[in-house]
Amino acid sequence: MTATLPAPRAAVVAGLGGWIPHRAVDNDELARTLDTSDTWIRTRTGIRRRYTIAPGEATSDLAVEAGRRALKSAGAADADALVLATSTPDQPCPATAPQVAARLGLGPVPAFDVNAVCTGFVYALATAAGLIATGTAERVLVIGADTFSTILAPDDRTTRAIFGDGAGAVLLRAGDRSEPGALLDFDLGSEGEQAELIQVPAGGSRQRSTGLAAPARDHCFTMQGRPVFMHAVLRMSASTQKLIDRQEWGTPDKLVAHQANIRILNAVGDQLGLGEEQVVANLDRVGNTVAGSIPLALADAVTDGRLAPGERVVLTGFGGGLTWGSAALVWPDLPVEALPHQPPAA
Ligand code: COA
Repeated sequence: MTATLPAPRAAVVAGLGGWIPHRAVDNDELARTLDTSDTWIRTRTGIRRRYTIAPGEATSDLAVEAGRRALKSAGAADADALVLATSTPDQPCPATAPQVAARLGLGPVPAFDVNAVCTGFVYALATAAGLIATGTAERVLVIGADTFSTILAPDDRTTRAIFGDGAGAVLLRAGDRSEPGALLDFDLGSEGEQAELIQVPAGGSRQRSTGLAAPARDHCFTMQGRPVFMHAVLRMSASTQKLIDRQEWGTPDKLVAHQANIRILNAVGDQLGLGEEQVVANLDRVGNTVAGSIPLALADAVTDGRLAPGERVVLTGFGGGLTWGSAALVWPDLPVEALPHQPPAA
């Protein structure tokens, strides 16, 4: 005899918000101190501008603002758990999430960090959906926040051209799979054999156990751009296709992918047979904001009308680890505040 298990509770997107710091850095400003140019950065990455925190600011400051906006969007005063995706926590220990929860006035709720670098937001969504499915929480605030400006080598023109600081958040609530906003399916993966393609070499147990101080440069982020590009296209396309097949969607209305490079977005769109207008891009305005990237792209797309209620959406991310992950949902009707940055340059 087989017992029929009750369908688990679905996690439903009930609020969305994003935040970026005030200081804008355009390509021309970078070209004043680095061997690069606006033309190179625009044509090779699609990025025109990124934002950086001010001295004294930290990841938690951006996370708190994004979280506040997501709560407001949902019309909620609080949440009963918080998951923060970040690979640039305020400090290595403890996690940053409890401080964010405290500053948002959430009380003594469970709060923890998830580190999957640029895939962090999708991993955090899946983790939060699990908290809801098991009945551990009714409403979970999921925030992706990073400040890569704090870990880039000042003379690394490749990474400094791409990365920017930012945060985005959604509030998930318990609900039913049939509701708009329900997270219908996830696909997550990793390939640790390729960890060295994206890394900060020093500052962890391996380097510290040698008893030797690491050169300053080993505390900076490094990325091997070309192989990462190829893995990103392969993994995000395959992961998205899995969800499309399992949902029997044929084609989704919109793809909201991690914003690393417009050429990656175009290649993924081509692989999946999507038109340019179906692939949401906002990296021209904010750069690659790591764990903040997908919710910031969602916030931009909703506020400028590129993403509408009822559209079938796949979110897909790729990043250090290597890691990748996707989520499928039908977009709900939510009020979302515009990001506090200027419109794209003409
Ligand atoms: N300005 C001018 N030249 C630059 C430059 C810059 N900002 N950055 C790199 N270059 C140069 C390189 O030094 C190289 O010069 P060389 O041929 O004299 O050696 C040349 O441009 C080509 O470098 P390459 O790394 O092959 O360029 P690319 O076209 O692959 O673009 C990235 C580099 C990083 C933009 C691209 O590889 C990329 O987007 N990678 C994926 C990033 C990503 O997905 N991250 C996701 C996880 S965070």
